[in-house]
Amino acid sequence: MPSIRIALVGVGNCASALVQGLQYYSGCGSEKDCVGLSHLFLSGFHPKDIEVVAAYDIDSRKVGKDLSEAIFQEPNNTPKLVDVALTNVVVHKGSVLDGLGEYTKRVVHVSDRPEENVVRTLKESEAEIVVNLLPSGAVEASRYYAEQALAAGCGFVNATPNFIASDEAWARRFAMAELPLAGDDLIDQVGATTLHKTLLRLLSMNGVHITQTYQLDVGGGTESLDTLERTKDIKRTVKTESVESALPYKAEVVAGSTDYVDFLQNRRDSYFWIRGVHFCNVPMQIDLKLSTIDAPNAGSVLFDVIRAMKIARDRQEKGAILPICAYAFKHPPKQVPLEAAEKMFAEFIG
Ligand SMILES: NC(=O)c1ccc[n+]([C@@H]2O[C@H](COP(=O)([O-])OP(=O)(O)OC[C@H]3O[C@@H](n4cnc5c(N)ncnc54)[C@H](O)[C@@H]3O)[C@@H](O)[C@H]2O)c1
Repeated sequence: MPSIRIALVGVGNCASALVQGLQYYSGCGSEKDCVGLSHLFLSGFHPKDIEVVAAYDIDSRKVGKDLSEAIFQEPNNTPKLVDVALTNVVVHKGSVLDGLGEYTKRVVHVSDRPEENVVRTLKESEAEIVVNLLPSGAVEASRYYAEQALAAGCGFVNATPNFIASDEAWARRFAMAELPLAGDDLIDQVGATTLHKTLLRLLSMNGVHITQTYQLDVGGGTESLDTLERTKDIKRTVKTESVESALPYKAEVVAGSTDYVDFLQNRRDSYFWIRGVHFCNVPMQIDLKLSTIDAPNAGSVLFDVIRAMKIARDRQEKGAILPICAYAFKHPPKQVPLEAAEKMFAEFIG
């Protein structure tokens, strides 16, 4: 298969898991020999067909280093899972803009190297798809890299909760440029939002009437620190809307991120509480905790999104691609129930 040439914006924990996953699965020949992916082959594309050809960050410990080394630099704290071979991709210095908040300024050391010309370097690397893995508070910076992707003729994947794919004006611009766009806010493989929605759906299908439910989480990655200061509200809105869409009726729903606990490192602990009534109005209650490591939780879904975006590019599909957005993101241009989104995606990838 031809390689899928991607550029990474933000060499943080998610990028680390993605690059480590590319190494980990590169020699994997059959589904039964490797676990952890929803698709080893997706429309014929294997993870080893994904090639990172450019990367951008602003931290002095990452800029100027080979990607294989940059992903293991602090403040990244997702675990090292494999040794990564030299990639020959040197991390470029990007534009800082609003990439850092007051809290993350304490842990990210901004490089004093000059900024690279992003459009030129994207074109030189022949990148086809830009994957935006910036902190969630980087609103202006996310828009800036979306502009650079448009100017360089690249598709754009927005893993952050900033509204790009779900913003009509951006979707129209990508459609006019005949480029695919996917987002916003990636869904995890075993994420709190998916688990919560699945539980609510199961309960409501069995006749339970949910009256109130909440989902709260704490984490120790830099992203949780940024959330604490800058994106608690947007994350609460996105997650709550997504969870509400799992119920066929209105209930009191709160879903959000609560705090940063540094010693958790890249772990995320999510708590769920569900209250409802079932037969003869008898009350029931569920109290659950899910513990995951955050960045690897994004890996399988990112692999699917990148390969599906390649298919979209090859078919000259343009603008926000709903089957990809609805399957893999919490805030797609239109909320689609879980099973319908999975069916749409399966039909899309063929
Ligand atoms: N499971 C998951 O990890 C998951 C799930 C859904 C969504 N997301 C989203 O993915 C994004 C990335 O998450 P993460 O945990 O990797 O975050 P992170 O904080 O570990 O990484 C962000 C990286 O971006 C860099 N950066 C900051 N400003 C920049 C700029 N202007 N230009 C270039 N680089 C810049 C930082 O130095 C850092 O290396 C977040 O928006 C998060 O909400 C992650």
